[in-house]
Parts: sequence; C-alpha cells; structure tokens
Amino acid sequence: MNDLGTGKYAVVIVAAGSGERLGFGMPKAKVPLGGEPMLVHAIRGALKSGVPDQICVALPRGDVELRSICETLTVEMAGSNGPALELVNGGDSRSESVRAALDAVRGDITAVLIHDAARPLAPAEVYERITAALANGAKAVIPALAVVDTIKNVEPAQLGDSGLRVERVQGTPARSQLRAIQTPQGFDLPTLRRAHEFAATLDAEAAAEITDDAMLVEAIGEDVFVVQGSSHSLKITTPTDLLLAEALLQGPLAPRWVEG
Ligand code: CTP
Ligand code: MG
Repeated sequence: MNDLGTGKYAVVIVAAGSGERLGFGMPKAKVPLGGEPMLVHAIRGALKSGVPDQICVALPRGDVELRSICETLTVEMAGSNGPALELVNGGDSRSESVRAALDAVRGDITAVLIHDAARPLAPAEVYERITAALANGAKAVIPALAVVDTIKNVEPAQLGDSGLRVERVQGTPARSQLRAIQTPQGFDLPTLRRAHEFAATLDAEAAAEITDDAMLVEAIGEDVFVVQGSSHSLKITTPTDLLLAEALLQGPLAPRWVEG
C-alpha cells in the first residue's frame, strides 16, 4: 500500500527529447515499444502507481501526433476518474522541459515526481519507495541501482609521434560507493522550484551538463536521499536498450523476473 502521507502529488513526465542516439528519426517518446509509444507506457506506469493527482507531460514542440495520443488518454482518464493530464511544450534542454511542466503544476500540489518518458517500464514499487521517503520527511529522493562495471575518471591523452588520441586514467572511485541513478525522482515542490530557479541562471554550457533534477537540489545545498531502483526502470537510449525493453515486456523472462 502506498504511503502518500498528507501530500498531493504531481508526476511530471519529460518527453520532449529528439532521440538522436536511438536513431529512429522521430522523438524517442513516440517510438513504439510492444506496439505502443514509449510515452503511453510511461503515463500508464504513473497511473498504475496510484500516486499522481495530476500528470504534466512536456511534449516535443509542434508534435501533433503525440499531443493527439495524449488527448485520447485524457478522455480515458477523465472517464475513470483518474488524475488530470496537462500537456505543455518542452524546451531545448531537459531541464527547460522540466520547468515548462512545473509551470503547469496545480497550486494544491505539495510534491512532484519527475520521470523520463525514456524509462517507460518503471514499476509501481519504485514510485512507492519514493513517496514513502517523501512522506517521512525527505525533500529529495532518487532511485538507484548498484553499479556493476568498474568506473574510471579519464582525461584526454596522446601516444607516440603520431599523437594517437587515447585517454589516460586519472582514478578509480570505489565501486561500492557508486550508484546508477534513475527516475522517477521525488521532491517537495518548494525545494524543486528553488533548485530550478537556480538552474534558470546557468549558461547554455552549464545547463547541458544537468542530466537530472537531483543535481540541482545538491547544488542548492539540500540533502538528496537514495532508495532502491529497479532494473525494469532502464533508460532507453540506444537500439540495444530498446531490444532489452521489448524482451522485458514480452519475452519468456517476464514471468520469471526476480527483482535485483
Ligand atoms: N528531454 C526533454 N526535453 C529535452 C531533452 C530531453 O523532455 N529538450 C527528455 C527526453 O524526452 C527523455 C529524458 O529527457 O525522456 C532523458 O533524455 P534522453 O534520454 O537524453 O532523451 P533524448 O534527449 O530524446 O535522446 P538523445 O539525447 O539521444 O537525443
Ligand atoms: Mg538527450
């Protein structure tokens, strides 16, 4: 059972990216997974969690097709007394898309979960862990998995007379202390608004380095807490990720899946 405390929650789904690395020549949120656009999976996942009173989606500017798919969902959700679905145009960077969606968050909302449409299979248990931590006083909560690869810091380097371009290792952080961070990330709304006011002051180069919202909360000096994520919350970035997501959704592993 969800521990929602006394909070009223909005889920923001950012779906305005172009999906360059996936290479389908269309916004990633529109790419089909199990026959339905990724964004539809992400919205249904948020609904299934029972968390949102409102869902705000940042769409690729001018994408008529995704907008119309969402409008159909709006009607379906209204018919089943579901949360309100608000559609906004996203921006040039992820963090601008988040801010556009935050502008549409209702006045009675106290906390927001921000989720990437590129993680269409995030399960309800993760939403529950996030809201439980928020209900217990955390102002920022993110889901994470332990890292399986050894991670190294590197710098550009050259070898030999030809100046062969390689990289040189600077150091190896202890793997036991590293986490791979996912979404949905949960925030108390005033904290998130403050973090994004700070983000709006960054120049384009610094803004491009902002890959999640928790980074901004860290930058304004607030504690960010970590809960267990899920291997089902994988981010679809390249075609290999899409293959894996299709397999998770339909393949023989699905019924035998053991959460890790
Ligand atoms: N996103 C967004 N607005 C942007 C850029 C990204 O809403 N201007 C969203 C994406 O739609 C995605 C999430 O942020 O759900 C994570 O971004 P990423 O995986 O990088 O997706 P894309 O930017 O679409 O992919 P790529 O970087 O390969 O173009
Ligand atoms: Mg991107």
